[in-house]
Amino acid sequence: MDLHRPTYHFMPEKNWMNDPNGVCYYKGEYHLFYQYNPHGAEWGDIHWGHAKSRDLVHWQQLPIALSPAKDKGELHCFSGCAVVSGENPLLFYTSVGEGDRDARNGAQLWMAAGDQEMLSFRQSPLNPLLTADCHGVLPVKEWRDPYIIRKGTGFIMVLGASVEERGCALLYESEDLINWRFLSVLAQGDERIWECPNLLEFGEKSVLVISPDDAPVYFIGTINEEHRLITESKGILDAGGFEGYYAPNSFTAPDGRTIMIGWMPERARGTYRSDAGWSGIQSIPRTVELVDGSLVMKPVKELEALRNRQEQFPGRTFTQWEMVPCKTHSRSFELLLTLEDLCGDSEFFVEFLKSRQDGKEEKTVIRYTGFDDRVVLDRTQSSLSGLCSDQELSFEKTRREDGSLTLHLFVDCSSAELFINYEKTISARMYPTRIESDEVCLGGKHVRLKELSVWSLEL
Ligand code: FRU
Repeated sequence: MDLHRPTYHFMPEKNWMNDPNGVCYYKGEYHLFYQYNPHGAEWGDIHWGHAKSRDLVHWQQLPIALSPAKDKGELHCFSGCAVVSGENPLLFYTSVGEGDRDARNGAQLWMAAGDQEMLSFRQSPLNPLLTADCHGVLPVKEWRDPYIIRKGTGFIMVLGASVEERGCALLYESEDLINWRFLSVLAQGDERIWECPNLLEFGEKSVLVISPDDAPVYFIGTINEEHRLITESKGILDAGGFEGYYAPNSFTAPDGRTIMIGWMPERARGTYRSDAGWSGIQSIPRTVELVDGSLVMKPVKELEALRNRQEQFPGRTFTQWEMVPCKTHSRSFELLLTLEDLCGDSEFFVEFLKSRQDGKEEKTVIRYTGFDDRVVLDRTQSSLSGLCSDQELSFEKTRREDGSLTLHLFVDCSSAELFINYEKTISARMYPTRIESDEVCLGGKHVRLKELSVWSLEL
């Protein structure tokens, strides 16, 4: 039995998957493309896999959307986006080849047009739409991952790059999606590369999300007349980082929601490769909003369709140390709780994917400690195999001014996604070794548990 294969997260039947690409809505269905190796469970020979869904929860696999045009020297179809504005759906992506067409020096912007059913795609005879030469004297390397949004009557596009070994997001404009003009270095950081930029617009404000070979970062600000992002605030999008949540891709749903999906790799195993012939899952879709200048992230409401049995705890106060087992035994569940009256002495934990046998325990723990006001995802005991990364993932300054804290957790066999007050998120992978590791329990001291629900989830 494949203990680590998730039940309600999207993944292909087998083989390697990395970044989500071109997530979009077309003719009543959501489409998800993804970086895919059809030949094995390790990165290589990158195609675009394809799936669709009516509800963002139940996905149907479709034929591969993009294969490298080997006759044109293309070896990999790197990440990109979809635009569904005109007659045919269009995919924009980064074409990588051999030698001077490699990812560092010779990546190109390519386009492929889909049929009306969004089932088969053809690389355009107009390719390449752009090469790095469009930047003039700017020494652009590691140029990839187009992300396009509408602007006025036309479109703007951001791409990730590295200029003088500093990661940056570059901005372009076009009226017709074919002819593009380089505008500016939108933003630049100290990391070596910036991959998979997303540019989200919320009224006057813009949010730039980038993946710098580490935890994805967001910048909130406005774009000035020189086409530069004037950053007002920034933060870590998801503390899971390169081993838990990377290279997210977003789109606007017809009801106006901005929806984001990220790649949850297998890196926490110490090796990307899984023993079971697959590698990588996609996160649950989450909405992203800007509320009073802060980023708010929530699981999409469609996930409620997965809720099976519910267990509810009435409010209770933990004065001295106390531990309470939940009745729910599940390796795929959702848990929602709110704590109140948090102070410097408060402590609270949720343990899950847990079992004890022969004196040996495995469990993953989410812990709140009042003295440093921190939420930690602790994987030091997640797996008896000793293979699982035990890197501590945490956020500080988590309780609200009124002393409350909301934790919303989604667990699926080898994954956990934690929303902290819907302002901060931690997504991570862990690899318990026992099928019995399905216990959930909680406990704490000097804290009031206002409410708690646990649902086992089933697709
Ligand atoms: C991010 C990334 C992208 C690139 C793709 C290749 O994980 O490195 O920058 O387009 O993966 O698979």
